[in-house]
Amino acid sequence: MAIGPQAILGRMEQRWRFDVEQAASAFWHSLSVRWNKLLDIDLKFMPVVYFKRYKMQIDLEQADLSFEPPQSEIQYFPWSDKMMGFHSLAKWESFRFEMDATVFPCLGNRDGCRQLMRDLTQRSNFVPEATWLALSIASGVPDSPVGTIQGLQIDNQLGAIQNIGVVPVFRGKGIGKRLLVLALRGFRDVGCKRVNLEVTIHNLGAIRLYESIGFQTVETVFKVGNVPVSA
Ligand SMILES: CC(C)(COP(=O)(O)OP(=O)(O)OC[C@H]1O[C@@H](n2cnc3c(N)ncnc32)[C@H](O)[C@@H]1OP(=O)(O)O)[C@@H](O)C(=O)NCCC(=O)NCCS
Repeated sequence: MAIGPQAILGRMEQRWRFDVEQAASAFWHSLSVRWNKLLDIDLKFMPVVYFKRYKMQIDLEQADLSFEPPQSEIQYFPWSDKMMGFHSLAKWESFRFEMDATVFPCLGNRDGCRQLMRDLTQRSNFVPEATWLALSIASGVPDSPVGTIQGLQIDNQLGAIQNIGVVPVFRGKGIGKRLLVLALRGFRDVGCKRVNLEVTIHNLGAIRLYESIGFQTVETVFKVGNVPVSA
């Protein structure tokens, strides 16, 4: 069967359309591969995660702050500049393997803890009365960091607990509760009526501790963080 010029033109047009579509599709495919690769790399190294946290609060006028732990080889010290090194070390040893070191990466390294302590204690709203250190006196002198807690004042009536931590081998002996009670008494002494803190919702031990003193959850908040993951 003879093919007329019309049919030849039609086939040429078809072929041309096919080539253009193929080229466009290849172009988009390569773009999307590159884009995905880029995203993939980003995602592998810095996935964004949202840490769900409870904001808890205690009413100091209702709180029972009488807790005394059993006698032990632990001594509690109020804030003093000389104790900065011990606080930093206690913080680092308490948090380095904990979930909070992912939420707040500075807690996972020694320099970060030092810097954090410097920042907190230099703030105009730092509350020395709510900042306490626990040291072991097992060797006869207080020389080994056991636990730490710091306080900030948000307004005339509201205080905020910062980073309570007890070194793993000393946990479960009432030291965290004692530090918390000492800090809360300090807030009360400077005129605070209520005290806040934040805790990651999976930190059940800490939540138990806060509830055992009388803290109640007042809000759920989200902290945005980046978790580095090796490729
Ligand atoms: C949370 C932390 C400070 C508790 O310190 P601790 O010295 O072990 O606590 P205590 O021995 O004083 O315990 C006090 C109360 O909390 C409860 N508690 C503490 N840790 C607990 C755990 N892991 N599981 C269950 N309950 C726990 C105790 O049952 C106790 O309740 P009770 O008085 O009714 O018996 C300590 O585990 C820690 O440093 N964790 C890592 C850092 C951290 O997550 N800090 C909190 C940041 S928000």
